[in-house]
Amino acid sequence: MTRGDFLGFGILGTIVGALLTIPPAAFVLGPVIDVNVRGESDVPDDWYRVGPIGEIPAKEPKVYVVEFPVNQVYSEEQVIEEGVETPGATIDNAVWTSWREEIGENGEAIHRIPSFVESGVQPPLTQEQIDEVTANLNVLSSSCAHLGCPVRWIVKEDGGEFLCPCHGGIYDINGGYVGGPPPRGMYSFTFEVREDANIYVKHEFDIGGDKGPQQPYVI
Ligand code: FES
Repeated sequence: MTRGDFLGFGILGTIVGALLTIPPAAFVLGPVIDVNVRGESDVPDDWYRVGPIGEIPAKEPKVYVVEFPVNQVYSEEQVIEEGVETPGATIDNAVWTSWREEIGENGEAIHRIPSFVESGVQPPLTQEQIDEVTANLNVLSSSCAHLGCPVRWIVKEDGGEFLCPCHGGIYDINGGYVGGPPPRGMYSFTFEVREDANIYVKHEFDIGGDKGPQQPYVI
């Protein structure tokens, strides 16, 4: 092989390598590179009312629908040039609420509904009552932790479970992973309970650990 042939093969190899590498790299980095072009959804950082704690049954979850306002901004350039915004737009999110379930010494399910809730909630709640409710409440996103399909509660003889209709992901009433493709349990909303005996959420997931709250990737 001559020196010219060697250099020619080298240049050809470089071109072919670039052709094979650039498209997947652009695909992966696309959301970072051109966020201005694609636009992004934006739910204001605020608290949104879910519903009253008094309506959550002792042994089953209750689903509430929360309307999160969305200020969809398509791109900075468009906003500046055309004033494109959608104020007043909302997106409905299903929020699953339930009392935490624990398994007793004999394998029986214990539902952690506070006694003052069972006997009828009388607002305003004391701080002690708010703390008790907060410690025993599940406030879960209906978006499956696999690819975001909305999960459903399926009643069974021995209680029930959340089932994802897309690929069969299964979770228990606390949102814990039971089976199927999801890599983890259901996501919990950042929530608080107030004196008026209602639950309020932010449009973010509290994923625990040291990672802090995360923006939902599916809304
Ligand atoms: S989206 Fe729920 S199991 Fe795949």
